[in-house]
Parts: sequence; C-alpha cells; structure tokens
Amino acid sequence: MDTKEVVARTADYIEAKFLNEGSGHDWAHIKRVWHTSQALAAQTPAADPFVTELGALLHDVGDWKFHAGDEEAGPRAARAWLSSLGVVEAVIERVEAIIREISFKGVGVPTPMSTPEGELVQDADRLDAIGAIGVARAFAYGGHKGRPLHDPAVAPIAHDSFESYKQNTAPTINHFYEKLLHLQDRLHTPAARVIAEQRHQFMEAFLAQFLREWEGEDVKASAPVG
Ligand code: ADP
Ligand code: NI
Repeated sequence: MDTKEVVARTADYIEAKFLNEGSGHDWAHIKRVWHTSQALAAQTPAADPFVTELGALLHDVGDWKFHAGDEEAGPRAARAWLSSLGVVEAVIERVEAIIREISFKGVGVPTPMSTPEGELVQDADRLDAIGAIGVARAFAYGGHKGRPLHDPAVAPIAHDSFESYKQNTAPTINHFYEKLLHLQDRLHTPAARVIAEQRHQFMEAFLAQFLREWEGEDVKASAPVG
C-alpha cells in the first residue's frame, strides 16, 4: 500500500472513530490539527510529511484523559492500526513518540518533542486549544466532565508534575491559568507563534469580559440598585 493510501485509510478510520465525540476532541479537531501541521511544515524541511500526517491523525487516539490515565493506550492503538496496514517499523516508532510526547503535563513540566514532525503536530494541537475554538473546547471538555464554569474560591495551581495535573478537577476557568495562557510561549515554529499571538489576545479579552460579567460590573454600572 502506498503512503497516500495509508493516510487516506487512517483518515477514514479516525473520522469514523471520533465523529460524534462531545468533549472537544472530535473529528473536526483532528482534521484541523492535520491541516495546520501540514501548513506549518512549509518552513520545516526536516520533517517527513508522511510521519507528520500520521502523527496528526493519530495524536488523540487512546488519549490518557479518556483511558483511566493509561499513557500507553495511544501508542498501542496506533501501532496496532499502522501494523495492520503494513507500515514500516521506523515510521511506527516516530508516530508512537509523537503520541507519547504531545500532551501538556502541567505548567512546570517541560514537554520537548524528540522529532521535527512532533514539533509540528504539537504546535498545531496547541493552536487548536487557544483562540475562540480553544475557549469553546475548554467549556465542552468541562461540561463533559461535569465541572462548574468558574469558582473564585478555587485558586489555579501551577502543576509541577504530570500526576498532580492529571488529578485536577478544578472549574474550567482555572484551566486557562493552568494551561491555555501558557501555550503561546511553548510553541516550536515561528509560524505557529505568529498565529498564536492574536488567538492569545482573544482569550485574554474573553477572560476579562467573563470576569466582568461574573462580578456583575456591567449590570452595576448601567442599572444601579436603588
Ligand atoms: P493535550 O494532549 O495537550 O491535552 P488535546 O488535543 O488532548 O491536548 O486537547 C486538550 C483539549 O481539552 C483542549 O482544548 C483543552 O482546553 C481541553 N482540556 C483539557 N483539560 C481540560 C480541563 N481540565 N478543563 C477544560 N478543558 C480541558
Ligand atoms: Ni488534540
């Protein structure tokens, strides 16, 4: 089977698997990461396009967040799938590495990628966690997990281990301070940094407005009680 056919079959497999996912990890997310990582690749000649495409398509397969914290579920599922298509071992290993390394693990935990393809996929995945879509995905995830939108009594935590980050069940607004606002400083490619700038500003504006409404400041200003 040629590489084009492997990519097409993998896209079909993942589309069917993630189509009705309701936590923000749906097929549309995977498709954006797939296309964005290819767009970013224009400036990264060292990346093998076949590995980048497969890594993007398979990056959320067996995510630890949905497999009782099992970090090997993803690499295992990707290996089984790619082996069934006869993909060579060297490519399978690079795809496994992307899945193993891609996730955010707490603001105090470095998440270096060991391959150029992994840097592209991680950047694309992080761009999809910020901006308007990032805001929507955060609340979709929080809703999926039954979390409150916000609770000013629960302070954000600067997680310095993956264990504590994984156990976190804080309100969704905290996720902005614990992860999303840090992503623009944790990108690899210059092109991704440019895209992130405006998305980051949008999130800051969203948070300012959210907290203003939460405190009822606009209501107080225009309809004084009395
Ligand atoms: P990562 O592998 O870095 O976690 P994903 O592609 O799996 O990246 O996407 C994570 C998505 O889930 C992001 O959009 C993120 O906002 C959302 N998410 C993860 N944890 C939380 C949380 N505790 N609260 C709200 N959203 C979350
Ligand atoms: Ni993802």
